[in-house]
Amino acid sequence: MSEDIRRVVLVTGASSGFGRLTVETLARRGHQVFAALRDVPGRNAKAAAELAALASADKLDLHVVELDVTDQDSADHAIDSVTSAAGRLDAVVNNAGGIFPGPVEAFAAEEAQRQFDVNVFGALRVARAALPRLREQGHGVLIQVGSISSRVTIPYSGLYAASKAALGSLTEAWHHELAPFGVEAVIVDAAPYPTNIGANAVLPADSARFGAYGEGFGRFVAELTERQTQTPGDPTAVSDAIVALVETPDGERPLRTVVAPAAQLDAVQALNAQAGETAQAVSADMGVSAFLAGHPTS
Ligand SMILES: NC(=O)c1ccc[n+]([C@@H]2O[C@H](COP(=O)([O-])OP(=O)(O)OC[C@H]3O[C@@H](n4cnc5c(N)ncnc54)[C@H](OP(=O)(O)O)[C@@H]3O)[C@@H](O)[C@H]2O)c1
Repeated sequence: MSEDIRRVVLVTGASSGFGRLTVETLARRGHQVFAALRDVPGRNAKAAAELAALASADKLDLHVVELDVTDQDSADHAIDSVTSAAGRLDAVVNNAGGIFPGPVEAFAAEEAQRQFDVNVFGALRVARAALPRLREQGHGVLIQVGSISSRVTIPYSGLYAASKAALGSLTEAWHHELAPFGVEAVIVDAAPYPTNIGANAVLPADSARFGAYGEGFGRFVAELTERQTQTPGDPTAVSDAIVALVETPDGERPLRTVVAPAAQLDAVQALNAQAGETAQAVSADMGVSAFLAGHPTS
């Protein structure tokens, strides 16, 4: 791969699911890839050893770095080690995340904070660590892994949807604020795909309140599971979309990429197009449309 299209990429949450697929595909395509995992000596020792073995066997430029997104020092250290080793950083994929499914009322505020600590503040910490470097370079991209549930909220995923909506809002603000520095921020809104997200889901601890919604929640999960079993999605659709964004030339990346079955894709893309037009119209009326990405601020 020629140097001008080869990217230095860090992907958080690379132990499983979309993150794991993304790091392998990027590395096989010739990029220099840093697979960020939390607790490498402990819970992710096996995943880290497998990535190292893969890199060695297939001669991939693929490296494991420790990064727990709930810890700013950990994020700072990971970004420092990548930029020291590679000399630059072209793309950061904020993929680490999880889901706290269940009726909103059943969750204590502390549980909601834990949901946001990974899905929202995790991305903020990693961005805060990476952005001085990206601004200084005058290029680079933050790619967030979001969800269509941030655009269309269904029951029993309220905390998750709220966290992904917050991630989408942060991405839109970064998109506008970073454009003058030549840095991009984009988000992939994914539909449900089979990964470890279900196995890692955290249910409400308050069993009494959770139980009050038991029948509805049970039927909801059964119907969702049945539909997903009939038409299982391929999670490589999401990792391939992330890889495509990494490889898209600077300045040409779309703000939102939707990855979903055809009917859902069309509906959410229509909503996103409308949201983009609404943002233009409202900011024009506020007199601040010159500050939106693509418009010079001075
Ligand atoms: N699968 C879907 O249906 C779907 C749909 C839309 C969006 N998403 C989003 O896609 C992203 C990846 O999820 P997935 O579906 O691939 O699920 P997954 O297989 O469970 O992967 C989640 C990854 O996040 C990591 N992670 C969790 N907490 C972390 C922390 N504090 N620090 C660093 N890493 C942490 C996990 O690491 P450990 O192994 O250490 O736990 C794991 O590597 C998430 O942001 C999720 O919300 C998923």
